[in-house]
Amino acid sequence: MNERPSLARAAPVSFTLNGIAQTVASTPGERLSDVVRRGLGLTGTKVGCNAGDCGACTVLMDGAQVCACMVAAQQAHGRSIVSIEGLAQFPMGRALQSAFHRHDAAQCGICTPGMLMAAADVLARYASPDRKTIMDALGGVLCRCTGYLKIVDAVLDAAKAGPEVLQEPGPAPSLEPGTSVGHRILRIDAAPRLTGAAVFGDDCAPADALWLRAVRSPHAHARFSIGDLAPFAARNPGIARIFTARDVPGENSFGIYPDLKDQPVFAEGFVRYRGEPILALVGTREAVEAVQAVDLPVTWEPLAALHGIRAALAEGAPAIHANKPGNILTSGIVECGDPARARTKAAHTAEGTFETSFVEHAYIEPEAGFARRVGNRMEIHACTQAPMMDRDEVSRVLGLAREDVRIAPTACGGGFGGKLDVAVQPMLAVAAWHLDRPVRCVFERIESMASTTKRHPASIRARASCDAAGRLVSYEFDGDFNTGAYASWGPTVAGRVPVHASGPYRVPHVKNDARAIYTNDTPAGAFRGFGVPQAAIAHEALFDDLAEKTGLDRLEFRHLNALRAGDTTPTGQVLEASAGLVACLDALRPSWQALLAETAAFNASAGTRRRGVGIGCMWYGIGNTGLSNPSTMRLTLARDGTLTFWNGAVDIGQGSTTVLTQIAADALGLPVSAFRLVVGDTDLTFDAGKTSASRQTFVSGKAAQLAGEALRAKILRLTNAGPDARIVLDGARLSVSDGGQQTLVELVHLPDQGDGIALEGIGTFDPPTKPLDAKGQGIPYATYGFAAQIASVDVDLGLGTVKVRRIVAAHDVGRAINPTLVEGQIHGGIAQGLGLALMEEFIPGRTENLHDYLIPTCGDMPDIDIILIEDREPLGPFGAKGIGEPALIPTAPAILGAIRNATGVTIRKVPALPHRVHAALVEAGRAVDF
Ligand code: FES
Ligand code: FES
Repeated sequence: MNERPSLARAAPVSFTLNGIAQTVASTPGERLSDVVRRGLGLTGTKVGCNAGDCGACTVLMDGAQVCACMVAAQQAHGRSIVSIEGLAQFPMGRALQSAFHRHDAAQCGICTPGMLMAAADVLARYASPDRKTIMDALGGVLCRCTGYLKIVDAVLDAAKAGPEVLQEPGPAPSLEPGTSVGHRILRIDAAPRLTGAAVFGDDCAPADALWLRAVRSPHAHARFSIGDLAPFAARNPGIARIFTARDVPGENSFGIYPDLKDQPVFAEGFVRYRGEPILALVGTREAVEAVQAVDLPVTWEPLAALHGIRAALAEGAPAIHANKPGNILTSGIVECGDPARARTKAAHTAEGTFETSFVEHAYIEPEAGFARRVGNRMEIHACTQAPMMDRDEVSRVLGLAREDVRIAPTACGGGFGGKLDVAVQPMLAVAAWHLDRPVRCVFERIESMASTTKRHPASIRARASCDAAGRLVSYEFDGDFNTGAYASWGPTVAGRVPVHASGPYRVPHVKNDARAIYTNDTPAGAFRGFGVPQAAIAHEALFDDLAEKTGLDRLEFRHLNALRAGDTTPTGQVLEASAGLVACLDALRPSWQALLAETAAFNASAGTRRRGVGIGCMWYGIGNTGLSNPSTMRLTLARDGTLTFWNGAVDIGQGSTTVLTQIAADALGLPVSAFRLVVGDTDLTFDAGKTSASRQTFVSGKAAQLAGEALRAKILRLTNAGPDARIVLDGARLSVSDGGQQTLVELVHLPDQGDGIALEGIGTFDPPTKPLDAKGQGIPYATYGFAAQIASVDVDLGLGTVKVRRIVAAHDVGRAINPTLVEGQIHGGIAQGLGLALMEEFIPGRTENLHDYLIPTCGDMPDIDIILIEDREPLGPFGAKGIGEPALIPTAPAILGAIRNATGVTIRKVPALPHRVHAALVEAGRAVDF
């Protein structure tokens, strides 16, 4: 019998797991997922919610898919269980893994085990399932990264190809040197995600680790005091220690900006939002989970809370932070020309107000990890998007030098900006430091949603004007963004929004103002776009208005005004190159015209459904706004022939490990398969900056290119070869051919540069920018991504429901280093944009789980066509820019424009939930009885 903790009322349960007989002791109600993961050590089965909502824990029980978190282990008695670790025992299981790899159906990989098990279920029931059958079968498993389409394609392909067409998950194909950029090579680190071997934040703690559970405020605004904890501890021997603010050895604060460390690790007598941690219980899992918060000696004095922007800005509103009277965290501006004057001379003006909601990242992997003290150093293994920033935060909290903290990122089960802020890290560090024992933590789903950052709700007033021919003359934008109780990335949003607020258009007169406002709501932070998606909803709605007023087709209005290379932006920056919006619009025109015609035909017949087509355009500055933004990459060739890529860029599913290796490989002139990879460990890699702002392909990619070129130059110098020489690495021997001449280098004969390294190439790239001045003039970004998407929707005039039928997306990515991965980003971005437009609204205290907070499922996805425009960026690696954020930004404007086209109604508060659409239809007299 496997060893299990001694449990009251435990009874033996016997079942087969992946064909092997198991007997475990299990208490009534103990989840099968827990028994499989913790009792039997098979961590391939993931837990995203423990509530039956996400499907990450899907296994097969007697051949049928079940959520293992919703099955009591004792129900498994006498049954056959198959988890992801056993999938490859079945020929169709291997076929599915292979097809998922071929189609790049696993990005971050946290949903992949559940998705594969659900797929195995449907393929066991149907020999040739159609798309709808597959979508129904996968409908219970959520994916936040892929947009599902490649997953469905993979299952269809596996069913069609059958078990004979196998391509085992494994290393990348050995492409010819210099030919990987631009190719659809398979993701090089996919195998562990497909087999359940990938180690995420909750998968790696040592067996003797204690468990940490944070106790959080039930109030949005309150004073509190903690009484004598000793009697409580004495009554709970499983609790090793309780940590409060007093136990923080260094600074009890963290935050993104050096001058804005305003968020405490543990609140000190005062909380500013519901979910703020006040103490941490550390002990056995059973002990910390058994504690009821009311049993703790904590006295609360609730205070009136400021919810929402209006309350925080109201006359006489108390300051949430004493140093910010008026609750304005910060503001940003971009101003050029004289928009007020230009407006008075304009032929047409459109204006409006727009509101957006808190949006939850809803990554399927909650925050998790463990910490351990190693002598006088601290080591953290956790999911993160920003290991170097985590290192700096933890070192402050512990009062250690940066070098004395090591962040070893685990696989990251989705981030989208939400894992740029520390979460478990500071608390774990404090506990492990004092206890000198490993300490682990995984946030519950509700805890994760209640306590971590969100997309900023925005309250926008905007006005746009154009001349009689439709040429834009002015744009005025005033946007307040609810940054919640703490600053987090609020300044970034306030700085980035004014640059982008008038959209990717030539506008000579602009005044764009944005403010980040403190409230007693959940902190808002980084989320795919940093405020730009909210601003795009406003500018695209106003430009639809202006197109109508001028009598221009909506696409042609945008084409007329689109920024082109050589144009000057509102910050005074001249776009030197790679401004591909016109090319995107040209590429979309045939689909646009076809959809308009199809829509007219559909709407000609009577019915309660109306069809509409909308268009959204965007631009997005790649990297930080007017700030230094460097990345450094390193390649080494050891005397034993090992070629290692030391890459500090964390791959959170977007595929940077593959893309950067492709770039490095072509720059060096060796195949992708030649590389050993070391990714993200702060002890082992240089600082590549954070994985955010669509910057890794552009910034770290350029650094990888420079590193490859530097190593290549050393090899060529060593062999006196010319720039076109061909390099071959064969074991510990380099062969360099130039013209008809071949030179061999026995690496073992080269001097040891340290750690067995014979040759090294290092590349650093910091995109050239110029800080914005007081009027927002400067060069905020070295390059921009451009895109346009069109959406076709059906609106039910009786119910207010909206179904997105089709999206056609044209994206200027500079150069698609790996088109398959670019497509995956666009699919995923569209899914999140659809959620932003139609369904996602986080309400603190109400939608803090994946049952009440809805994200798109498989069945919500439209057909998607992608057109890649490659307007090369001269600064980028092989011409590449970035795609992470651009993928999402145009989607909501396109959908909202399509709703307006279908109904004549502009939705001014998103998400466009059915009751909001219906209310707008009623107000406009467009609703029909159903
Ligand atoms: S963990 Fe079981 S459904 Fe989410
Ligand atoms: S790949 Fe599905 S959640 Fe990340």
